[in-house]
Amino acid sequence: MSRTLTIPRPDDWHLHLRDGAVLRAVLPETARHFGRAIIMPNLVPPVVTGADAAAYRDRIMNALPAGMDFTPLMTLYLTEETDPEDVAAAHASGLVTSVKLYPAGATTNSASGVRDFDRVRPVLEKMAEIGMPLCVHGEVTDADIDIFDREAVFIDRVLDPLRRATPGLRIVMEHITTQQGVDYVKSNAENLGATITTHHLVINRNHILVGGIKPHYYCLPVAKREEHRLALRAAATSGDTRFFLGTDSAPHTDPNKESACGCAGCFTATNTLSILAEVFEQEGALDRLAGFTSEHGPAFYGLPVSTDTITLTKGDPAAYPPKIDTGDGPVTLFDAQMPLHWRVI
Ligand code: DOR
Ligand code: ZN
Repeated sequence: MSRTLTIPRPDDWHLHLRDGAVLRAVLPETARHFGRAIIMPNLVPPVVTGADAAAYRDRIMNALPAGMDFTPLMTLYLTEETDPEDVAAAHASGLVTSVKLYPAGATTNSASGVRDFDRVRPVLEKMAEIGMPLCVHGEVTDADIDIFDREAVFIDRVLDPLRRATPGLRIVMEHITTQQGVDYVKSNAENLGATITTHHLVINRNHILVGGIKPHYYCLPVAKREEHRLALRAAATSGDTRFFLGTDSAPHTDPNKESACGCAGCFTATNTLSILAEVFEQEGALDRLAGFTSEHGPAFYGLPVSTDTITLTKGDPAAYPPKIDTGDGPVTLFDAQMPLHWRVI
């Protein structure tokens, strides 16, 4: 028996589209289902100024196939040299939605990120003043901190002090991966939300390491123990409006993943909605899927919920191609290792 579920058209509040041939290949995978997405600025070189964001936005719109409707919500990459006035002007013009904070060295192309948080204080004060959100990659990079502890330590050492110093700043903790991340959001009513990825609802660290190393499950923040995955599933399916979808779909070509030093990132744009419907159904929370994918994010960002809808149907398991081709090489699609009965029609 087939069932259907109609929800407002979803948005992706954390997405990597890259540039050039990869952009052209992955953009339709998102635009097919999602109306808007927060576009990550970690290109080489990064999207730092309003002018950079305008040029990148044009490249995205030029790569959008005719007949597809999609709005990229641009972000600026915060550096210690970022000019608060440039940020404010880019926000006021409607070009840029938020600023992204990468601690230097935390992840892919984060070398230009922040080392000394005092040096970005004027930008953060300006953002608090104008109501512009900050998207935070929440991991410390100190060599002596175990990679599985980097998010929890970041909350104590960096995020909490930063929020106390700039209480009016609206912050999104991006791609939370831990019980501590969930608890921190829940214990802070004001100005704080969190995105959760599709893949962190599905995999724990065993998926990466047991039975041979699985580079396509390696991302940052790295997947944690099972108890953390369960905490994320509880948060995502709870209906709490502070948690919303940010896929962090992060394409890298196979040679860059399947390498002695493989890149971090899971590519989930194509099958995210099938996976999420399966997860929410497993949790008895299909009625809360729309909140997570389509309603909580716009509420946090002060944007309207889409008036368009998408419909999912339940039937025989969907078959997705294992890879998509790009002009730069194949990109492997995230394998959820379970039958996916729901598909967007
Ligand atoms: O897994 C990840 N991939 N995490 C990030 O923070 C960056 C992203 C990328 O750009 O590849
Ligand atoms: Zn990301």
